[in-house]
Amino acid sequence: MERLQKVIAHAGVASRRKAEQLIIDGKVKVNGKIVTELGAKVSASDRVEVNGIPIEKEEPVYFLFYKPRGVISSVKDDKGRKVVTDYFPEMDQRIYPVGRLDYDTSGLLLLTNDGEFANLLMHPRGGIEKVYVAKIKGIPQKEILRTLERGVHLEDGKTAPAKAKLLSLDKRKQTAIVELTIHEGRNRQVRRMFEKLGYPVLKLKREQYAFLTLHGMKTGDIRELTPHEVKQLRTIALK
Ligand code: URA
Repeated sequence: MERLQKVIAHAGVASRRKAEQLIIDGKVKVNGKIVTELGAKVSASDRVEVNGIPIEKEEPVYFLFYKPRGVISSVKDDKGRKVVTDYFPEMDQRIYPVGRLDYDTSGLLLLTNDGEFANLLMHPRGGIEKVYVAKIKGIPQKEILRTLERGVHLEDGKTAPAKAKLLSLDKRKQTAIVELTIHEGRNRQVRRMFEKLGYPVLKLKREQYAFLTLHGMKTGDIRELTPHEVKQLRTIALK
């Protein structure tokens, strides 16, 4: 627990003296309520606002999550479905996913409370490499794989160059497993690319995000990124 004026000063909003004045003037809210006493103490989980603006006091945190299928890439859902942050019940920080995976897609998802980092990674310029493994209906010929690589005409434009690799096929069931590596992040992109060519996606998993993999993880597992990994991701996104 820390004194309110100290927390405000540390967030860089105002000097300690000015922070005291802001409190006295009724400009400071803690968890939505105006606090005017100077002795008040707050913890990391308390939400402090100055002039209606939340102060950025949180330590940045970065997680890699193996999202299961049947979970929304959001912090809340109107229909009461399971959301990714349900897997982080002990968090003081307000974290959110970096981009999204569909409800039915499993795989690697990053979560953070660092908005700048999230925006950097999601910016199209960054073009972070993402590797997906799709189980599809039908067995694609080489020419279909080349089309995936050269670009598919979707309603929001032609997709950028990609890599496609046939991993296995089941002749009896008429299904195939294809690895698709893309740099874009359009909504339902992988499903739409296959669908457009006549190969509906039956199952989809994101195996890799830049250099990060799910190695050694099970669905629902979480691990913190190392500071070095965070730095590497920043470097890649800025290239
Ligand atoms: N492409 C999709 O179609 N779905 C995802 O969840 C991610 C990429």
